[in-house]
Amino acid sequence: MALKLWLSFLLLQVTHGVQSPRGQWTANIPTKITVLQGSCVVIPCTFTFPMPTSKKILNRWIGFWKKGNKVVSTNIPKWKIPKEYKKRTQFLGDLTSRNCTMLLDGVRMTDVGSFYFRIEMPQYKRYSYIQNPVTINVTRNPQPPSLSVKRDGKVIATCSVTHSCPSIPPQLSWSRSGIVISHIKKLNQLKWKTVSTLIFQPLPADFNKPLNCTVKYRGGKQAKSSTILKI
Ligand SMILES: *[C@@H]1O[C@H](CO)[C@@H](O)[C@H](O)[C@H]1NC(C)=O
Ligand SMILES: *[C@@H]1O[C@H](CO)[C@@H](O)[C@H](O)[C@H]1NC(C)=O
Ligand SMILES: *[C@@H]1O[C@H](CO)[C@@H](O)[C@H](O)[C@H]1NC(C)=O
Repeated sequence: MALKLWLSFLLLQVTHGVQSPRGQWTANIPTKITVLQGSCVVIPCTFTFPMPTSKKILNRWIGFWKKGNKVVSTNIPKWKIPKEYKKRTQFLGDLTSRNCTMLLDGVRMTDVGSFYFRIEMPQYKRYSYIQNPVTINVTRNPQPPSLSVKRDGKVIATCSVTHSCPSIPPQLSWSRSGIVISHIKKLNQLKWKTVSTLIFQPLPADFNKPLNCTVKYRGGKQAKSSTILKI
């Protein structure tokens, strides 16, 4: 009996392994994203589907991003998008390479909720990935940047923010002049880090005064971090 159970368990594992994600209707999307009101988000998305058994060539790919019954974005250029989403979304993915990435800009409180992807391959099948939605949450408060200072004769100040909109990333600025080096780093599919480093030779007037780094997000919201330079 125990052996039989073990065998069926083994069999279950094997069948599970055989059904590779490639052969399933699966959309690979983050389950939840929090976005700052007014700013933007790039929703990373890839999808898979069972290989058609016939050898028909799939050469038409129509993709939709939907919220409930509303189409919010599509790769069809002339599609009539509801006014609420018109000009706020951009279909960035290339469907032939199973990429359904979408940009949502000017994020509003009314965007809070669930979005899902739908694929239509007229020579094959149509499918809505309602089992793999992304939930968008919207926050009103901009995150202040992280700020740190190193001293090595010179002052080397580093300021950074993480965000989910590499298409229109936040801008960092300093309250003092110096050499500024900026870069953007990808942390994972969803998170990006914009970093700004300020380097200067401190003057007596710089001490016991705040050094500020300000972040300006897409849409205009700002937040600031401040540190006092000690002698
Ligand atoms: C999907 O497309 C986006 C936009 O072009 C791109 O940035 C991203 O790297 C692509 N993802 C994959 C997994 O290729
Ligand atoms: C959405 O964001 C708000 C503001 O940051 C937060 O208070 C709330 O808990 C979040 N809701 C969910 C479902 O994560
Ligand atoms: C830097 O921030 C401090 C503290 O918030 C503020 O008092 C000061 O005016 C700011 N300085 C500049 C140059 O923006």
